[in-house]
Amino acid sequence: MAKTTKFELVKAALKARENAVAPYSKFKVGAALLTKEGEIITGANVESASYGLTCCAERIALFKALTEGRKRFVAIAVVARVAGTAMPCGACRQLLAEYASGAVVWTADSRSPRAIREFTVAELLPAAFLDVPQKAG
Ligand code: THU
Repeated sequence: MAKTTKFELVKAALKARENAVAPYSKFKVGAALLTKEGEIITGANVESASYGLTCCAERIALFKALTEGRKRFVAIAVVARVAGTAMPCGACRQLLAEYASGAVVWTADSRSPRAIREFTVAELLPAAFLDVPQKAG
């Protein structure tokens, strides 16, 4: 299988973004995770009338992938219509640090999807909290 490029992964995130359910913020976000095996799992944000229940595109993609048995991630693309590219929120950074720490993070503005910024998860969340200490008490 040919190696998926950052452009292809951003394209998958753009397509996923079309299915965002964002009636409150109107801010549509798409995400696409690439597994080590070359599979792409996508997600988009879903909002709730009880705002706090909203789930980000990145987490939807990650939860879909994890609960389909996918565990090894090499990249994630995140796209929204925002100047300076779509940056993952803190909660999503935490989950990426826990479940996709080795993934490259590609971010883009949906209006200029070929201008892609690249980050490591560690850059986005340095010194992450990763586990409860064994002898917590
Ligand atoms: N959102 C994402 O989907 N990903 C992010 O990284 C930032 C925020 C969504 C959540 C909410 O539906 C909307 O964008 C506005 O915050």
